[in-house]
Amino acid sequence: MSKSSPLVGKRIVLGGGGGIAAYKVVELMRRMVDAGAFVSPVLTRASLRFVGRTTFSALGSEPARISLWDGSDPIPHTRLGQLADAIVLAPATADLIARYAAGIADDLLTTTLLASKAPVVVVAAMHTEMWQHPSVVENVATLRRRGVVVIEPEAGRLAGGDIGVGRLAETDVIVQVVETLFEVSTKNLLANKSVLVTAGGTREPIDPVRYIGNRSSGKQGIAFARAAAELGARVNLISTVPVFDSAGINVVPVESAQEMFDVVSNLAVSCDLVVMAAAVADFRSANVSPVKIKKRHGAPEIRLEPTPDILAHLGATKRPGQVLVGFAAETGDLEIEARRKLKDKNADFIVANNVLEEDAGFAVDTNRVTLFYGESEVALGHSDKRDIAEKVLRYVAEYAKNTGAWQE
Ligand code: C5P
Repeated sequence: MSKSSPLVGKRIVLGGGGGIAAYKVVELMRRMVDAGAFVSPVLTRASLRFVGRTTFSALGSEPARISLWDGSDPIPHTRLGQLADAIVLAPATADLIARYAAGIADDLLTTTLLASKAPVVVVAAMHTEMWQHPSVVENVATLRRRGVVVIEPEAGRLAGGDIGVGRLAETDVIVQVVETLFEVSTKNLLANKSVLVTAGGTREPIDPVRYIGNRSSGKQGIAFARAAAELGARVNLISTVPVFDSAGINVVPVESAQEMFDVVSNLAVSCDLVVMAAAVADFRSANVSPVKIKKRHGAPEIRLEPTPDILAHLGATKRPGQVLVGFAAETGDLEIEARRKLKDKNADFIVANNVLEEDAGFAVDTNRVTLFYGESEVALGHSDKRDIAEKVLRYVAEYAKNTGAWQE
């Protein structure tokens, strides 16, 4: 089970230079993608002599690019450079380091570097003599003075059998360095934000004793509330199930869809983010009996009427700066249902899962969800509900920042 990484939702340009360590960089790219980053591989021509473009395209988040001129986008370097949250050069060869230090922009990778204000991590790998050459030493010093993070090569066996300094750092080390770039900025990701979360299945009364309910345990919603509080938000949790250990969370108990609607529509006005994790009944009894229905009177006739759709109401009354997250617990085609809900309810995100899967969905502590937002679709791995919640919140915060919904 993966721990949520600060790389979730980050856009990373992986700049691959032409060195034998390119084969290790494929693994690095995969690790960053698995951690939740969107990795765009940008390769130098020389790198293609070591690992094929297809390998990078298949394992990256989008097809590998090499040239300024090989796609339909006339200015790929500005798009890549401006959108990047970080650029990782690996392996950074003596030539790539020299071109970057000198500000040369003679291919897609070096133009992207110049078109970006994102932090850059240079992961050097070359033969010992080259690494120790005064021109490389000076270029590395220049980059460091400019704030570039340089991960030095490690000692070990080099290509050709020599022993010395030159090997690309271990993948774990590189991933850790890239993660620390974002750790500080994401620790208080939701500071000053007001978040409203709903949890549990609603209970729609039939009479004072009986109700129409569903299998929702409230675990995923409660996990969202806890994760949001830990990320610094003020949290209101509107729950149909009892919540223990609610430190830092304002819990409002409700039972029916109507009660949830009344509380949520009232509180949502001042919220920056609403996470509708509750399984709200779609129908309720239109003829609730004020007294217990007796068996001896025969099977009662229960007429159903629709409940208010809380999420759709919030979507219709959404104010600028507010982000709405809805859920889709499905037994069929996730994508069709999720995309329909995104549109019909004017939500910004739909967190979809197949409730028929084992170890996911109702009552269990783990989940496997796919996030739908804008044109994007991201499958989050199987993990505990707390971790899923944190990952989703990181995507939401990135989205809110990138779309300008949240100003600070
Ligand atoms: O339409 P459906 O019930 O499948 O949509 C699920 C999403 O809509 C969930 O986020 C749920 O909390 C929300 N919902 C709602 N009010 C309803 C029904 C669902 O807010 N009456």
